[in-house]
Amino acid sequence: MKVILVNGSAHKEGATYTALCEVEKTLREEGIETEIFHIGNKAINGCQSCGGCAKLHRCVINDCVNEFVDKAREADGFVFGSPVYYAAINGALSAFMDRAFYSGSYTAVFKHKVAAGVVNARRGGNSAAFDELNKYFFISQMVVPASSYWNMTHGYTPDDVRQDLEGLRTMRILARNIAWVLKCREAAEAAGIHPPVTEPLVLTNFVR
Ligand SMILES: Cc1cc2nc3c(=O)[nH]c(=O)nc-3n(C[C@H](O)[C@H](O)[C@H](O)COP(=O)(O)O)c2cc1C
Repeated sequence: MKVILVNGSAHKEGATYTALCEVEKTLREEGIETEIFHIGNKAINGCQSCGGCAKLHRCVINDCVNEFVDKAREADGFVFGSPVYYAAINGALSAFMDRAFYSGSYTAVFKHKVAAGVVNARRGGNSAAFDELNKYFFISQMVVPASSYWNMTHGYTPDDVRQDLEGLRTMRILARNIAWVLKCREAAEAAGIHPPVTEPLVLTNFVR
């Protein structure tokens, strides 16, 4: 069982990474394979709403989003980490997730898999950003384990985050719950309990 932890910050080893590392360390202790995927510092185009992914089953812009979605096909779970910018997830991660989830939806890359968001702010805006991350998971029929608090840490630097003992505890509890849900999922499959078949799509694009 594998979990990909996406670091949405421009800082490869910054505060968000430090929070993700606490999740990763605990996942490994639980016997879960992990990989940290840094979205990097290059510009990430927003979704162009071209509809190309409906035909190609990947984004027409061939960058780190497609690289991630290819890896995501093989993964069982995800943790998306975001620094908080203006009480929201950061712009690059927003563009990344719009395109990953939209293009990935055509081949059910995320459906019925496990996901959690983690946010880090210097001071405020964490819960609004956390809500944003969860919206991608809920529209994708993902299973979203919780922790003992909303999944957030505070700090401007990695060292600040290391001092946020409550935040780090939240990360570890989250990781153990992710591992438990992954193991339950595997046991369910072995027992012949499969995810439900989704009803045919109905799009009501306007209200009469
Ligand atoms: C454009 C921008 C906007 C920011 N907005 C907020 C904010 O709304 N609230 C806050 O507490 N910190 C804010 N910060 C601080 C970041 O949350 C902080 O630098 C980041 O979480 C550190 O994590 P990182 O090292 O992984 O990037 C902002 C930083 C930037 C660059």
